[in-house]
Amino acid sequence: MRELTAKAPPAANGTESRRIREKHREFLFPATIQYYEEPIALTEGKGLRVRDADGNDYLDFFGGILTVSVGHANEKVNAAIKAQVDRLSHVSSLYPTLPVVELAERLARITPKKLKQSCFTASGTEADETAVMMAQLSTGSSEIVALRHGYSGRSMLAQSLTAHSTWRALPTQVAGVKHAVSPYCYRCPLHLTYPSCGVACAKDIEELIRTTTTGRIAGFLAEPIQGVGGFITPPPEYFEIAVGIVKKYGGVFICDEVQTGSGRTGGKWWGIEHWGVEPDIMTMAKGVANGLPLGVTIATPEIAASLKALTISTFGGNPVSCAAANATIELIEEEDLAGNAERMGRFLREGLEELKRRFPKSIGDVRGMGLMQGVELVEDETSGDRTPAKALTNRVFEESKKRGLLIGKGGLEGNVFRIAPALTVTRADVEEALAILRESFQAADAR
Ligand SMILES: Cc1ncc(COP(=O)(O)O)c(C=O)c1O
Repeated sequence: MRELTAKAPPAANGTESRRIREKHREFLFPATIQYYEEPIALTEGKGLRVRDADGNDYLDFFGGILTVSVGHANEKVNAAIKAQVDRLSHVSSLYPTLPVVELAERLARITPKKLKQSCFTASGTEADETAVMMAQLSTGSSEIVALRHGYSGRSMLAQSLTAHSTWRALPTQVAGVKHAVSPYCYRCPLHLTYPSCGVACAKDIEELIRTTTTGRIAGFLAEPIQGVGGFITPPPEYFEIAVGIVKKYGGVFICDEVQTGSGRTGGKWWGIEHWGVEPDIMTMAKGVANGLPLGVTIATPEIAASLKALTISTFGGNPVSCAAANATIELIEEEDLAGNAERMGRFLREGLEELKRRFPKSIGDVRGMGLMQGVELVEDETSGDRTPAKALTNRVFEESKKRGLLIGKGGLEGNVFRIAPALTVTRADVEEALAILRESFQAADAR
């Protein structure tokens, strides 16, 4: 595998990065959030390594928000992209192409049995928009149950589904979205403890439907693990109970696999497969095309048939994005990368549990599945003070960057680390990341 290009001598005092940051500040919307006090201007990547404009290298354990699922500049994916660009790069959804039909057939094969027909768009936001529309058309109802701490994107509807005040620019614009409590055991919204709670958070959906809707809903949209929410992982029985209630009131289950999909949760293609229920509609984006823009809404043929109006997506099913997705999926299958996600995820998790034992006051919770592991930082877990430790989180974040490790943050208060390397991660990479995290917690004065 090609290494990053030979190390260029850093530009004097980081001037190149500074120049890029200044232009970003001047010409982009100021609200476009960026990580770190001094955002990193990345210029190249290979596998799990990325390099900035000044020649500094980093081990990437966030993959452009769980998107680079088989590594940066993956040779097989890049070859497929280049061949497709040279052949045909755009036609719109008005014309069938081979990459699009191959991808749709592949997705029908690897998603839960009853899902068969796909609609391609260019982002996770559009995939969720399409899914909600299909739930409404197929049921004839309009109300949607979503989850608190969920994230669906940045359109009007997606912001209305999103349940984080921090990500909402405007008050709710779309009527009929009701938010059930999140299955967030570490901060149980019902102040109960699993398992004696009897998974009351799932059962509460019935009360929500009966008291805040017409009693007939279009659907329930949920992530198998809440990503932006801070990798909130529900108890195993949650989805069976929740989906059972949703069906009783006429709704379909929309599973948002934008973060949990494409083998990330380990051993299986989709996060929901760990929870024993089959969705009626599934959405994907991020990791499905290793970084090329692609949104997918896959549904049962009955649900797909309920859209009667004309529909088009100019960039939906772009042949280059579809070629990238086909190569990504092939690679995940050929190299059993979902299996690697399970094995490396277990190893990473053990290391993070060990980190929690070293810093028992500061680390309140370690959670997640496969290569989707969250670490929640609090003021003092040992005395039961679970106040989000925002300042400490930022210090550890900066220290890990200084030591050459990129990770993500999440949670309503931004106090949860999101650790999610590419599925091609090795044991040596995980060891390196854990060593940097240990040093960074120490340097940030975690306890
Ligand atoms: C679970 C989930 N759904 C939907 C979206 C929206 O995807 P996009 O940013 O591609 O529009 C995101 C983005 O982070 C997400 O995490």
